Amino acid sequence: MKKLYGSNRIKTAVFISGTGSNLKKLIQFSKTKKSPININFVISSNSKAKGLSFAKKYKIKKKVFKFNNKVRDENTILKYLKKDDVNLICLAGFMKILSKNFIKKFKGKILNIHPSLLPKYKGLNTHQRVIKNREKVSGCTIHYVNSNLDSGKIILQKKVKVHINDTPNKLSNRIKKQEHILYPKAISKLFTNP
Ligand code: GRF
Repeated sequence: MKKLYGSNRIKTAVFISGTGSNLKKLIQFSKTKKSPININFVISSNSKAKGLSFAKKYKIKKKVFKFNNKVRDENTILKYLKKDDVNLICLAGFMKILSKNFIKKFKGKILNIHPSLLPKYKGLNTHQRVIKNREKVSGCTIHYVNSNLDSGKIILQKKVKVHINDTPNKLSNRIKKQEHILYPKAISKLFTNP
């Protein structure tokens, strides 16, 4: 789905639940000349998410949905996104699982970042499991979202070495540095005309 941009950037929503370091990088990328996207909306599943402060700083519309009633919340989100013509969703540390119905409505237009070399280490506690299994290499993946967890088509991956004395935290920090480069790169790959 390559698209022309310029004045016509793809209206994008970023879904978060926590720190929002990827959100921050995506916002910064969206401000560059070469960005094919504009970030119009931030959705958080957590009212205390640190990432919300970036939405505030950059004056981007934000809403919190706790997903206690998933059907109701998803329907409300869909209404908001439709109203603002949002055409791309980037999940960035979003800890809720979207329903099949929601994914269908945004088919092929939801991306996710996962901190492993998929298809290895889907799901939670990735770094702990990687270290426990004495893997030598881990990394991060940008992929399309389908209705199976962390299983959609892979767009880009980056390998990161696992060190002998790594803790989940150390490894996470090292991988996140690459995530911050990889997400904008994947978006450019998908939407920038050659
Ligand atoms: C990242 O490691 C991402 O790969 C995973 O959740 C983490 C979110 O980090 N899905 P942040 O909130 O973007 O800092």
